[in-house]
Amino acid sequence: MAGLFDKVEFAHGPATANRFTLAPLTNMQSNPDGSLGDAELHWLKMRAGGGFGITSTCAMHVQPSGQGFAGQLGCFSDDLLPGLTRLADAVRGMGSVAIAQLHHGGSRSDSSLIGQQPICPSENVEFGAREMTSAEVEESVEAFIAAAERCKRAGFDGVQLHGAHGYLVCEFLSPETNRRTDNWGGSLEKRAQFMMEIVGGIRSRCGEDFHLGVRLSPERFGMVEEEAVQFFALLVDSKKVDMIDMSLWSVFKESKSEYYLGQRLIDIFTNLHRGDCRLSVAGRLYNGDDAQRAIDAGADVVAIGRAAISNHDFPKQVRANPHFKMRETPIPVEVLRAEGLGEAFIEYMRTWRTFVGE
Ligand SMILES: Cc1cc2nc3c(=O)[nH]c(=O)nc-3n(C[C@H](O)[C@H](O)[C@H](O)COP(=O)(O)O)c2cc1C
Repeated sequence: MAGLFDKVEFAHGPATANRFTLAPLTNMQSNPDGSLGDAELHWLKMRAGGGFGITSTCAMHVQPSGQGFAGQLGCFSDDLLPGLTRLADAVRGMGSVAIAQLHHGGSRSDSSLIGQQPICPSENVEFGAREMTSAEVEESVEAFIAAAERCKRAGFDGVQLHGAHGYLVCEFLSPETNRRTDNWGGSLEKRAQFMMEIVGGIRSRCGEDFHLGVRLSPERFGMVEEEAVQFFALLVDSKKVDMIDMSLWSVFKESKSEYYLGQRLIDIFTNLHRGDCRLSVAGRLYNGDDAQRAIDAGADVVAIGRAAISNHDFPKQVRANPHFKMRETPIPVEVLRAEGLGEAFIEYMRTWRTFVGE
């Protein structure tokens, strides 16, 4: 039986010392120009030192037009390289594998931050976003690949393409948000084209020793499990991707889709053929027992979000006590500060129901 503290090897890039990944977590602690803020560095360095085998950055925008959050760390320009290099060095210096999450907010980019109308695959009236021209689609593909190359130059071990949660890559995948009639829309394969071109470009331009992951979510934003399973297969069959991270929000929840009715979300994905590609899962893994249960169900890696915000050394704690549980919420502000959260991040956490106390 696989254990949480077993090493995991990947087809490309370094192995991880254990099965814990710090999930990508937006923390709004960087500078208005997208450069690394000290508070963001401090928060991530503490998690890397807390025993996470892999430490992922927040969603980092690959183009100025894709910024979704104030204080978001960016990776859209070589001017940002000094900060990205400091961050990659700090994470790797703690013995953790450094992964940069590549993001474009699509229709949900914040027009007050980007100074223009948000862009996305097809017009989105709700968000006041307009359809991208085909030249803009190509520019975006190139921006994702160039950002991966930049992260490699900064010293990251790899990148994760953010294809989840209704942002740009996910908007291309979903038939609800991608109604294009050109080569970037229509059949499932055409909707996947944006993601697959980025994946292919990153693999060929960043080389064989660079980790490439993709994050998908199978619900909401027009995504359904049946199609997520097919996107998963396209990625596995490409043999270019080292890990697919399924963002399930609740790993052991049952599927609502008629096709998978009664099956747990985790089982849908652990049952799929995955070749050399590893499977990571995220969602409500708040204690050591549930993390081990996800591995027992067949996941290779667990991505930890809120339990890593509450406890910077969650993996070390679980190693000492397999039944360790994250702190009870609401968590007092003073405790969050001691756990390495700066004021901007604490404010943001107030928008996550019942997380922050007095
Ligand atoms: C404060 C916060 C920020 C998040 N930011 C991101 C992000 O930048 N990119 C991403 O893919 N998911 C993001 N997520 C989702 C998490 O990575 C994770 O999948 C989710 O929190 C479920 O895991 P958990 O139940 O362990 O928290 C965020 C979640 C939280 C709570």
